[in-house]
Amino acid sequence: MATMKTLWVSLALLSVLLVAVQGQRDCTPADFTILHPESPIYSVLEQNVSLRAFIPDTTIILYKGLETTTPNRINCAVSKCSLDTNSGELTFHNFQPSNASNYTMLFTKGVDPTCVYRFALVKAVAPSLSETQLNYTIDKDSGELSLQPMVSPGIPPAEVHWYLNDQNISVGNTFTFDSPPVASDRGIYTANISNLAGSASLSYTITVRFDPIITLEITETTATDYIIHCRAIAYPQIETIELFEIRPDGTLLNLHLEAGATSTTSNQLSSNLDYEGTATFAGTENCPKNYRCRVSTSYSNGINNTGTCLTSKYTCTHAYLLKF
Ligand SMILES: *[C@@H]1O[C@H](CO)[C@@H](O)[C@H](O)[C@H]1NC(C)=O
Ligand SMILES: *[C@@H]1O[C@H](CO)[C@@H](O)[C@H](O)[C@H]1NC(C)=O
Ligand SMILES: *[C@@H]1O[C@H](CO)[C@@H](O)[C@H](O)[C@H]1NC(C)=O
Ligand SMILES: *[C@@H]1O[C@H](CO)[C@@H](O)[C@H](O)[C@H]1NC(C)=O
Ligand SMILES: *[C@@H]1O[C@H](CO)[C@@H](O)[C@H](O)[C@H]1NC(C)=O
Ligand SMILES: *[C@@H]1O[C@H](CO)[C@@H](O)[C@H](O)[C@H]1NC(C)=O
Ligand SMILES: *[C@@H]1O[C@H](CO)[C@@H](O)[C@H](O)[C@H]1NC(C)=O
Repeated sequence: MATMKTLWVSLALLSVLLVAVQGQRDCTPADFTILHPESPIYSVLEQNVSLRAFIPDTTIILYKGLETTTPNRINCAVSKCSLDTNSGELTFHNFQPSNASNYTMLFTKGVDPTCVYRFALVKAVAPSLSETQLNYTIDKDSGELSLQPMVSPGIPPAEVHWYLNDQNISVGNTFTFDSPPVASDRGIYTANISNLAGSASLSYTITVRFDPIITLEITETTATDYIIHCRAIAYPQIETIELFEIRPDGTLLNLHLEAGATSTTSNQLSSNLDYEGTATFAGTENCPKNYRCRVSTSYSNGINNTGTCLTSKYTCTHAYLLKF
C-alpha cells in the first residue's frame, strides 16, 4: 500500500515537473538580440570563459543542469561567476573540472518566463600523439601515399595543418599525395595538430629512391690526352661509377682496366638528400668513340650511353685498330 502511495505521489510530482518543463519554451535565435557563442562552449582549466545571451527587457536566472529548480540555481555573488543582466554577459571565472556541466539560463519578463537557453560547458583537452617522428622511404613504384597521424584528437576535435619544409601546404586530417611521390616530393612533412587546449606535432621524413641521373662529359686536354667526367645524382648512396667503351660490335670494354685510366669517386650528401658522385677517367690512348657510364646504387643501376670523343685527330676506328 505504501509503495502504491509513493508511486502515485511520484507520478503526480513528475506530471507537475513535466508541465513546468513544458511551460518553458526553448529560446530560438529569433529571441536573442545577442547570442555568442553557440553551445557547447569549451574552456581550458583556470581560464575565464564568457558568453553573451541577451534578450531585451528580461531578467536572467542561471541554473546548473537542465532543470530550473531552486536547488540548481546559481548565485554568481557566491559562485565564481559574473552575470550582467544589462548586457547578457556571463563569465565563469577560473574554470574548474566541476564547472563542466549543462547550464540553463531562464529569461523572464516580469513574472512570466519567456524562454530557456541551455548550453554545455566542456573541458577542452589537448590532442596527443604516440609518436612524433616517422620516416618513409618511397620507391618510384611505391604507389599512392597518404599521411594520417594516429592521434587522440582532443576536445574540441583538433585541426591538422600540414607543412612541407615549413611552408604550409594543406589543412585536413590526412595528407594525400596527388600521385606517387617522386624525387621532388622529398622533404620533411609536419602535421601540426591543434585545438584551444594545445598542440602536438608530428614530422615525416619522406625519402624517394630514384634511378641515378647521369651526365657524361668528355674533354680533350692535349692532342693525345682526354678526360671523361661521369657525374651522377642518386638516392640512395652511389656505390660504383664505371666507364666502358662501347665497341662497334656492341660489346663493352671496361676502361678501369685500361692502362693509363684512373678514377676517383666522391660521394657527398647534399642538403636535399641527393648523393652526388663524379668519377674522372683520364686516358692517353686514342679516344674511342662511344662510352657508357654506369652508376649503381642499392636501388638500381643507371647508364648513360652518350658521349662521343671530341678528338678529330684520331678516328675511333684507327684507335681501335692500333690496340690489336
Ligand atoms: C579572470 O577573471 C578574474 C575576475 O575578473 C580576474 O581577476 C582574473 O585575472 C581573470 N583571469 C584571467 C586568466 O583572465
Ligand atoms: C566552478 O567550480 C568551482 C570549484 O568547484 C566552484 O567554486 C565555483 O563555484 C564553480 N562556479 C560556478 C559558476 O558554478
Ligand atoms: C548535458 O546533457 C546531456 C543530455 O542529458 C548529456 O548527454 C551531457 O553529457 C551533458 N553535458 C555536460 C557537459 O554535462
Ligand atoms: C627519421 O629520420 C631522422 C632524420 O634523418 C632521424 O633523426 C630519426 O631518428 C628517424 N626516425 C626514425 C623513427 O627512424
Ligand atoms: C597557408 O597559410 C595562409 C595564411 O594563413 C593561408 O592563406 C593559405 O590558404 C594556406 N595555404 C594552404 C595550402 O593551406
Ligand atoms: C602548432 O601551431 C600553433 C599555431 O600556429 C603554434 O602555436 C604551435 O607552437 C605549433 N605546435 C607545434 C607543436 O609545432
Ligand atoms: C647523358 O649525358 C649527356 C651528356 O652529359 C646528357 O646530355 C644526357 O641528358 C644524359 N642522358 C641521360 C639519359 O642521363
